[in-house]
Formats: sequence, structure tokens, C-alpha cells
Amino acid sequence: MSGHGPAIPMTSRKATPLRGVANVPGDKSISHRSLILGAMTVGETRITGLLEGQDVLDTGKAMRAFGAEVIEHGGGEYSVHGVGVGGFAEPEDVIDCGNAGTGVRLIMGAMATTPISATFTGDGSLRKRPMGRITDPLALFGARSYGRAGGRLPLTIVGAAEPMPVRYTLPMASAQVKSAVLLAGLNAPGQTVVIEPEATRDHTERMLRGFGADLTVEDTDEGRVITLTGQPEFTPQTIAVPRDPSSAAFPVCAALITEGSDLLVPNIGLNPTRAGLFTTLREMGADLTYENAREEGGEPVADLRARFSPNMKGIEVDPDRAASMIDEYPVLSVVAANAEGKTHMPGVKELRVKESDRIDAMAKGLRANGITVDEGEDWWSIDGRGPGGMPGGGTAASELDHRIAMSFMVAGMAAQKPVSIDDASPIVTSFPIFEELMTALGASLTRDNR
Ligand code: S3P
Repeated sequence: MSGHGPAIPMTSRKATPLRGVANVPGDKSISHRSLILGAMTVGETRITGLLEGQDVLDTGKAMRAFGAEVIEHGGGEYSVHGVGVGGFAEPEDVIDCGNAGTGVRLIMGAMATTPISATFTGDGSLRKRPMGRITDPLALFGARSYGRAGGRLPLTIVGAAEPMPVRYTLPMASAQVKSAVLLAGLNAPGQTVVIEPEATRDHTERMLRGFGADLTVEDTDEGRVITLTGQPEFTPQTIAVPRDPSSAAFPVCAALITEGSDLLVPNIGLNPTRAGLFTTLREMGADLTYENAREEGGEPVADLRARFSPNMKGIEVDPDRAASMIDEYPVLSVVAANAEGKTHMPGVKELRVKESDRIDAMAKGLRANGITVDEGEDWWSIDGRGPGGMPGGGTAASELDHRIAMSFMVAGMAAQKPVSIDDASPIVTSFPIFEELMTALGASLTRDNR
């Protein structure tokens, strides 16, 4: 899907206390990987709890275009009958990944060592995002790419007919780049090595092992050294996708800032490479606990309990934690606005190349709602006004970015005056039940017909 439907302006007014159980959708990162790895495996991979957000649906469509069979059974249950490592067929048409950076980047990696060509595009947000970070390492395998200026989409990749394994040190903290290189390495003979100076989410490594790849990880002075042996025989898997901590962040943060709230958010994936937000919130003084901690399908999982927390304080957020909470800074800034004192967030330049420039989008929208924000190229800070202290009354631009849209809807739940966004339609990419779920818990969200 290129672009979204008509804009949906939306307003969030002061919520009643948020209470009950928030069942958030499946993890977006694991959902994309389940479909892609299933498509690279001969036999039937069964997936339950798949996120049926537009991003993941677009990846499912792409896997069909490369020759896999993807069958929907209803209720988030899917089967994928894959074509095997190196078995992708050449798609007949352009692959449209919609809004999904993860989708397009991982798929480019997965096809780059197969002797086929494919052309990729996406919506107005995805077409602005840098792809050189993917095509540079793919060129080392022997894949060629032809894109717009700056390596932007639309972009064609001609896969390597005789791929060579590579050794690649990541120039930025990006799980998408790491994953693209590992997926490309699957169809190269010998050992592909990826070195990540800063640890990023490790779902690809865990899942590759689960499917039967020979993959080792070593912590060294250079960073995490990941070694993958190419051309594995994959065994089809049964995958239960845990619920998404990045989606859980929205009801959790809403409960922390909304008076009288007490929410249970069950079955949340708490992989340490993803859980940085929750550690940060606790440092700020949030009443947030993990209940029933357990392991499911190789991932740590727990039920989160979040209660209204009137005593939160602004903090210096540890930059070493940035990768483990990179998608959560927008909603953290809303919590910071409701805490006492300044919250400083350093080491976050990757925020500028997400679905939007997230520092810029949040800063503009927060300022429009009476909050003081300072920013530099790789840092930003929020002057907190204490519980319920956000004046509100402004409209933010969501800039084709689901997390910006949802963050401002959370802001409105505790602000003095309503908070509006120009367009809630991007929310379907990752959290299609956001409006319904938050309303059932006590939020007041209205679609504004302008
Ligand atoms: C993701 C990695 C992160 C994250 C994105 C999902 C993934 O992107 O922001 O939402 O599933 O690998 P980067 O690799 O650009 O940091």
C-alpha cells in the first residue's frame, strides 16, 4: 500500500481512570521475521498471535510475490509454506512495503543473494528513508542496486548469482541493517560475520537458531560478533508471537499519567534488547511491576501492571539504553512532560531517520501543547510540568508516523485541554485496535470531521 487512506483527524480529551486489561497486539519485529523466515523454509510454519497491522500484512503480501504461500486462518493464526533458502522466485511486479522500514529492509536482505531482481517502493514516509545503509553491505555479497538519489526508494536490487560471505561492522546501531546482512548471509556459502558495536534487538539471531541455523554470538572488545554459517537446512517452526512491548508502551504510559488508573497489560515480550523503556520509567518513579515472569518460545514474557504515578521525576536517560527503547522515546517524552523536572535524552540520532524525524515531530507537537522542548542533532530534553501539568489545546502533525500519532493521543488523556492530531490513519500500521482498546479502558478519543 502506497500512502494511507483519507486523513483521520482525532482528538483526545481528559480520560476517566484507565482500568482493566489491555490486550495489545503481537510484536511487530517478530511478526515480520516469522513471515520472512517461514517463506525461506520448505514445509509449513505455523504462526499464532501475528500482528495484523498494515506493515506486517504488506510483508505477507511480499512473501507471496516471492513465491511463498501465506494462508490466513483467522484470529492472528497463519501458515506459511516456504520455498527454502535461496528459493525465492522473481516477483512479477513492484514490491510495495507501505510504511514498513523493517519489512522492506529485511526483505531486501533476504532476496539479495538469490539470482533474481526486485523493485521496492513504499509510502511517502518510507520513500524518504535512507536505504544506503542496507544496499552498501548487500553490495559486498555481490548484489547491485539502483535507487533514487541518496539510495531512496523506489529501488531495484539485482541479487548476486554467486554470493560471497561477508564480514561487516555495523556503522550505526540498527537491528534492521544487522538482520538484512544475516538474512543475505543465509544463501552465501561459508561464514558471514556481523559485528555490532552496540547491542540491538536480537530477534533475528534467536529465530535463525530456532529454524536450525548454525549461529554463534561472542561478546568481544569490538562488540557482539555474530557468526552465521550459510546455506542451512531450515526446519519449519511453530511460532507464538509475544505481545509487543512497543505497543504496550502506550497503555502503560497512559496509565502512569492518568489519575486513578490501574491497568494490567498481559503477555508482554520483555527481551532485554527491547525493555529499556520500562527500566527508564521505573527510574523516574513509575509504579510499574512485572507479574508472572516466564519464558515463552525463547523470549522472556511477563504481565505488566501500571498504576497512576504522581511522583515521577525527570531524569538523565542512559544513552547506552537507547537501542533497547528506540521506538519508545516519543511516548516517553509525554511521560516526561507529566513528571517533575527536566528529562534529558542523549545519544538518539537514529530517531531522526524513523517513520518521521521523531525528535522534530514530537518537539513541534509538544510545543503546540505548551511544553518546552530543547533539541540538538542527537539529543533532546523536556521540561516536565508535573502530573496533569500539560496545558494541551494544540494540534500535532502525525507525519505518517504511527508512534507520533499514538503519543499525542496519550498526551491528551492527562492534559488540561484536549490534544488533537491531524491524522490518526498511520496507527493501523502497528496497533490497529488502539482506538477501540484505549476507549474501552477509559480514554476519550473522537474522530473529528473537518
Ligand atoms: C526494528 C528495528 C528498529 C526499530 C523498528 C523495528 C526491527 O529499527 O526502530 O521499529 O524489527 O528490526 P532500526 O534498525 O532502524 O533501529
